Amino acid sequence: MTTINEEIAKRKTFAIISHPDAGKTTLTEKLLLFGGQIQTAGAVKSNKIVKSTTSDFMEIERQRGISVATSVMSFEYHDLKINILDTPGHKDFAEDTYRTLTAVDSVILVIDSVKGVEAQTERLMEVCRMRRTPVIVFINKLDREGQEPFDLLDEIEAKLAIRVTPLSWPISRGRTFKGVYNRFEGTLALFRPNSERMEKELTVIDHLDSPLLDEHLGDLATKLREDIALIDGVYDRFDTAAYLNGDIAPVFFGSAVNNFGVRELLDVFCGIAPGPRPRMTDKRQILPDETAFSGFVFKIHANLDPKHRNRMVFVRVCSGVFERSKYYHHVRLDKQMRFAAPVSFVGQKKETIDTAYPGDVVGLFDVGLFKIGDTLTDGEVCNFQGIPAFSPEIFRLIANRSFEKVKQLEKGLAQLTDEGIAQLFVQDQGRRKIVGTVGQLQFEVLQYRLEHEYGARCDLTPLSFTKACWLTAKDPKKIAEFCKFRSDAVATDKDGNIVFFSASDHMLRHHIAENPDIEFHTTSEFKRAAG
Ligand code: G4P
Repeated sequence: MTTINEEIAKRKTFAIISHPDAGKTTLTEKLLLFGGQIQTAGAVKSNKIVKSTTSDFMEIERQRGISVATSVMSFEYHDLKINILDTPGHKDFAEDTYRTLTAVDSVILVIDSVKGVEAQTERLMEVCRMRRTPVIVFINKLDREGQEPFDLLDEIEAKLAIRVTPLSWPISRGRTFKGVYNRFEGTLALFRPNSERMEKELTVIDHLDSPLLDEHLGDLATKLREDIALIDGVYDRFDTAAYLNGDIAPVFFGSAVNNFGVRELLDVFCGIAPGPRPRMTDKRQILPDETAFSGFVFKIHANLDPKHRNRMVFVRVCSGVFERSKYYHHVRLDKQMRFAAPVSFVGQKKETIDTAYPGDVVGLFDVGLFKIGDTLTDGEVCNFQGIPAFSPEIFRLIANRSFEKVKQLEKGLAQLTDEGIAQLFVQDQGRRKIVGTVGQLQFEVLQYRLEHEYGARCDLTPLSFTKACWLTAKDPKKIAEFCKFRSDAVATDKDGNIVFFSASDHMLRHHIAENPDIEFHTTSEFKRAAG
């Protein structure tokens, strides 16, 4: 029997994030290969949602199906239990990714060496920064003619606003790519394209002046020595505490498809990445090793069969031991609930489990009682913070297409927005309904599911807003005054909070400057903090 502390010490729960196509799926697959969860490369089904913007709904549905299976993948490596929380690659589902980031303890960020830092990466990194999530960077596709590594590091520091320190360094790139020097261990890994490479194939060199280096690298040895001297002079030494605090990101170079640099990355990850961390609630901080169970819902997945509305909710265990069939407290509903068939995710398979520990993700079958952000406890009344809604960027006004289906539309909208497909806002005492998303595809999924699961058809009319801000003020009269003349741009969210829609960043800056007594929040995080 292991103790709860031993179980906690074994767990590392993280997400791999990247701009689509940088190599997230490939890297995930190689990590599973090391964990023995898959035998061959190519076995992981990407949970990417259609690359093109063409809307083949059946394809979206099919892929949503795949993404249930691949939402969480667990494997054992060197006595550790590693949980990878997968995130959808498609930018239109970025909100899903933001929410998943609330459930991890650290992140590996994959960057394509040819493309450098891309738009999606910047936004994902913002979320990590907000939460001070420790980040390791993996610069991928060194076998291609990518950008100069020093330029890439500069770009990462500038665009992602994080200090970096390279722990490995590439020797040339593209056709002349020779391998990677590991600054951490003083070893040299020579590159040979091979997607099944499982073993460390390292040349240990005691010193950079070693003649072995010239033997293996020829003229490139001098360049490597110069590069490393420059790195030692320019970049901070790696400091685990600074990494854990989200202040500095160690950087690795490699080629995921060739399984090159992956084991090195995994080994360092296992050594430095944080285990389950304490989490704040609106009442107090909860430590993972407390005996009482607690956890929160960060993802809800609808059943693919429209005849059965049950869904799967994904709960991140934060403290204590989760046990099958034990009664737990659903804090928002003030309701005792038990779960007879909780599942965990091993490799790519689901399995019914009896217990789960902090850091683990448990899948629970639900008939519509959960919302994203809900807290489950052993009885304590508290709500986990840090599961915010983020400002949508595209807004549509909803118009019901058939009067007799008004109830179905209401129900469908309520349930699907609880699931996090889109955010719902209302104006005019609920008579005007507006949905907001970060991607066009989310609207298409919403319309499709409203029709197929609830029999409700609606039209969506574009609105010219680009941002929603939650408003607070010490003096509520200030908000009332502000809202008075802007009724078309003010609404309430599902929890009754006041939200202001802005047509541009420029306009928003103007309103912020003009209204110093009002706070404009671009995430709903303040709610729980205040509540
Ligand atoms: P994603 O999940 O981040 O969207 O990316 P994914 O792993 O699917 O990789 C995107 C493409 O980049 C894939 O090619 C993949 O094979 C390729 N790739 C990944 N790592 C490397 C690397 O180290 N070097 C090179 N040259 N390519 C890499 P694809 O053509 O889109 O798909 P596939 O047919 O190869 O699977």
